[in-house]
Amino acid sequence: MSGSENIPRHVAIIMDGNGRWARERGLPRVEGHRAGAESVRTIVRAAGEVSVEFLTLYAFSIENWIRPRSETSALMKLLSLYLRNEVRELNKNNVRLEAIGRLGDLPETAQREMDAARRATANNTGLTLILALSYGARAEIVDAVRSITADAQAGVVKPEQVDEALLSSRLYTARYPDPDLLIRTSGEMRLSNFLLWQMSYAEMWITPTLWPDFRKPEFLKAIEEYGKRQRRFGGVEPA
Ligand code: FPP
Repeated sequence: MSGSENIPRHVAIIMDGNGRWARERGLPRVEGHRAGAESVRTIVRAAGEVSVEFLTLYAFSIENWIRPRSETSALMKLLSLYLRNEVRELNKNNVRLEAIGRLGDLPETAQREMDAARRATANNTGLTLILALSYGARAEIVDAVRSITADAQAGVVKPEQVDEALLSSRLYTARYPDPDLLIRTSGEMRLSNFLLWQMSYAEMWITPTLWPDFRKPEFLKAIEEYGKRQRRFGGVEPA
């Protein structure tokens, strides 16, 4: 890829297919998640290399808590391990780590590792990596509405002041631009309660590849395809 291409500022990824990847190999599901963590490492580096500014990864949805306890605790352990081991690599690649979601739902160890990793990478100026953890878009919108209604009740916000910008400013993503490109692996054609408000105009790129097999060449292909898309935001194609 040459530097002249149209690079999305913000890429969001639904990392799906870890379980199927493991099943195809007769392995426990957690092995799929482990292999998926390797893809995370590779894609974070690749995103930084092509100057993507924000990368949001759907690492654990609020609905994922209904999975068997053995799987959720394995995922949380994997997350803690990733956070602990990855800081050095993130710093080497100038990546700033952040997180969105109901982070208070995470086990204390994971919360502590997240705080430490955030602090350790806070001054990096390259890619911002945002992990969505215990994240649900509807819960996020509910949290935003609660914060606005509390202000309305206190008389700080008037109903006529409630607009799209105000609601956006109360979402977990207030400090980030909306995603330009959504990548989903494993062929499923749905949004799965991910960044519903923010993705109103995102371009979508869906691949049958399972997340543990999704590596740099395919990521670059998605970026390249994005570069060819005509974004109209509800307007007409330019003459
Ligand atoms: C979806 O696959 C994936 C998840 C629910 C978790 C994603 C986690 C990782 C990629 C690894 C850990 C993350 C970090 C940030 C270190 P699935 O289990 O739903 O797969 P299936 O649909 O094939 O069952």
